[in-house]
Amino acid sequence: MVIENLVRPNIRAMKPYSSARDEFEGEAHVMLDANENSLGSAGPERFNRYPDPHQRAVKAALAPLKNVAPEQIFLGNGSDEAIDLLVRLTCVPGQDSILILPPTYGMYEVAANLNDVAMERLPLTADFQLSPEIVAQVVASKAKLVFICSPNNPTGNLLYADAVEEILRGFGGLVIVDEAYADFTTAPSWTTRLAEFPNLVVMQTFSKAWGLAGLRLGMAFASPEIIGYLNKIKPPYNISEATQQHALAALQDAERFEAMRTGLLKGRDWLAERLPSVGIVEEVFPSDANFLLARFRPDATAVYDYLLEKGIVVRNRTTQPGCAGCLRLTVGTPAENEALLTALQEFES
Ligand SMILES: Cc1ncc(COP(=O)(O)O)c(C=O)c1O
Repeated sequence: MVIENLVRPNIRAMKPYSSARDEFEGEAHVMLDANENSLGSAGPERFNRYPDPHQRAVKAALAPLKNVAPEQIFLGNGSDEAIDLLVRLTCVPGQDSILILPPTYGMYEVAANLNDVAMERLPLTADFQLSPEIVAQVVASKAKLVFICSPNNPTGNLLYADAVEEILRGFGGLVIVDEAYADFTTAPSWTTRLAEFPNLVVMQTFSKAWGLAGLRLGMAFASPEIIGYLNKIKPPYNISEATQQHALAALQDAERFEAMRTGLLKGRDWLAERLPSVGIVEEVFPSDANFLLARFRPDATAVYDYLLEKGIVVRNRTTQPGCAGCLRLTVGTPAENEALLTALQEFES
């Protein structure tokens, strides 16, 4: 597969913006090249200088953790930025399409709509999986991108690895495996297969297990060629200095990461064990993420509204394909999990 052929001609031809920090990278006493404020910053912290546009320190810390080279890492303002840039990189507005496998994360469709890119939808099976028929349809599609969310949001399950591999071998466009919830599963990350598949892009995020949703920091891992193209089209300073500093500190706090990850997994098991015996719960789907999708009877939206009245917000997924009657429940603190369970037990239908 020639990746260059998947890149929009105008992007192949364009020159990226050359920032002041690109043109001078050394140490200097007098920095008068970027129209910054040499006097300092308003507020308690000093952020008067533009950040490293290549986020070298963060990538140097991340690369060994993910077992990839720094040149295989793209950092975005959340994975949502990577989703948007991948669509823009490959799809000519008004002409090309992307492929999604509903029910799935909503931002793929938003990015397509925003960029005037057509949508192809191939719904997952009733148990939210890929089937040989779906795989054959993906492979036959002329879409430029397919988004495969695994573990999937809102369903929580991993998609069959064999089926994903068949897609990687047969599909003519980029295969984006969105692993936002990778830290909550024991399955190996698709980053371990990057060398085998030149069309593979793996996305992960600091928003979930790292507990840094407020920072907005997402990762994409792929060949240096694909990452080079993403870097070419990103806004020059897309990751703020504050975010880079916080991310570096977080990466050095592996203990806290592991403790939170283990705690959330315990919470998930605790809820998954107890929810099925609640009268209004019809089914709890298996989860490899930090949430559970559950089907409620007789009226999930009434349960949703009741929980809201009690000050508990969950995600109403009843209108998503295949998710009639389903609410998505994020694993909280032990006290929050208990409050949710008690409220559900007390619901009178
Ligand atoms: C599957 C999936 N991908 C990406 C994201 C967004 O991640 P970020 O916060 O890094 O933009 C989410 C957030 O809920 C998600 O569920």
